[in-house]
Amino acid sequence: MKFLGNEMITVEDGILKIDGYNATELAKEYGTPLYVMSESQIVKNFTRYVEAFKEYTEKTGKEFIVGYAYKANSNLAITRLLSKLGCGADVVSGGELYTAKLSNVPSEKIVFNGNCKTKDEIIMGIEANIRSFNVDSISELILINETAKEMGKVANVAFRINPNVNPKTHPKISTGLKKNKFGLDVESGIAMKAIKMAKDMENVNIVGVHCHIGSQLTDITPFIEETRKVMDFVVELKKEGIKIKDVNLGGGLGIPYDKNTEIPTQKDLANAIINTMMEYKDKIELPNLILEPGRSLVATAGVLLGKVHHIKETPVAKWIMVDAGMNDMMRPAMYDAYHEITPCIIRNENKKEVVNIAGGLCESSDVFGKDRELPKIEVNDIVAILDVGAYGISMANNYNARGRPRMILTSEKGVYIIRERETYADLLSKDIVPNYLL
Ligand SMILES: Cc1ncc(COP(=O)(O)O)c(C=O)c1O
Repeated sequence: MKFLGNEMITVEDGILKIDGYNATELAKEYGTPLYVMSESQIVKNFTRYVEAFKEYTEKTGKEFIVGYAYKANSNLAITRLLSKLGCGADVVSGGELYTAKLSNVPSEKIVFNGNCKTKDEIIMGIEANIRSFNVDSISELILINETAKEMGKVANVAFRINPNVNPKTHPKISTGLKKNKFGLDVESGIAMKAIKMAKDMENVNIVGVHCHIGSQLTDITPFIEETRKVMDFVVELKKEGIKIKDVNLGGGLGIPYDKNTEIPTQKDLANAIINTMMEYKDKIELPNLILEPGRSLVATAGVLLGKVHHIKETPVAKWIMVDAGMNDMMRPAMYDAYHEITPCIIRNENKKEVVNIAGGLCESSDVFGKDRELPKIEVNDIVAILDVGAYGISMANNYNARGRPRMILTSEKGVYIIRERETYADLLSKDIVPNYLL
């Protein structure tokens, strides 16, 4: 079995290991369901971005910043690890900004995205003196300017444009088409109108243009199209006397969930973006470059371990029932997403059977994998669901009154609990019973 993209996983004598730790033993010691995050894999994924894009700084003398998209996985140990490596933050809520500050991310490496920033969140961002609010509407621009005025401050703003580029990904994670809710439309002139308005405002400072066309992109050409649309717009702005310091091209690079799919690497992405940016070097002073990857930094570093409690045969299928569920990892139920699944003890690689792997929630969509050809699995075995480091725990919830799982970090220094399992008391800690019902 190949574990493409999951360099921390090895199989020795049929035993699956994560960063050298026996996965079955980890499950026994820390309980299931269990998220395992690999430090070594996160470091590798981040370093690949830095290495691939250093050429941009060498060629232009401008900054290159990776702003990790916190929505992918905002566990404090993960955000601190990335911050220590020099990574910035793309936040979309007051909660994520709070996390970025607790992770010691310098203010000049924090950008604030999202299409419905509240006044309280804007105040937080201005107080933190962030690098930019990525403005999503004229209404938001007006609120940022008014809020900054009340605070006697000037807020840095970049403008999220909607370039109408097809990212060729799942419709639910496509964001840069005209029909999507995000960004300021370029073709109709709304984006230009917003920026001209900002030019006349006293409490905002125009710093950049931002764009994010979607997630899990497996083709490089939409990135090239996106870069061209953004840079063409930056040229238009220059004609209006508006200089752009930062260009932020968002996140979106896919990962090989299906190990038979070839995925562009960080190097492929860098070549595409840098070559396209360089086409503009005689037209404008090239800007600093910001990217906001989430999935491609952390997805491959995460494994969800579940214990098999029951095996059931029906007239049409064999079901493997594990104690992880769709509340712990929603992607298959939500997007029909494919995740590689393997038992952690591989008894005989050549003797396989076709099975369905399901969680224990009362929903027919609570299925992690259908018709999977896997080595024989027995009750009490541990099953690993791969590539769950992004949009796994961050989308987890308490449906069916299930506590969210414990999470551990495997590192060279040892194994660390980085998130505690929620208890039954935790689940009820925010519920309030009116006096008359006591
Ligand atoms: C504005 C923005 N930036 C960055 C990202 C991260 O995308 P990805 O995890 O695909 O890299 C997202 C994800 O939805 C996003 O909405």
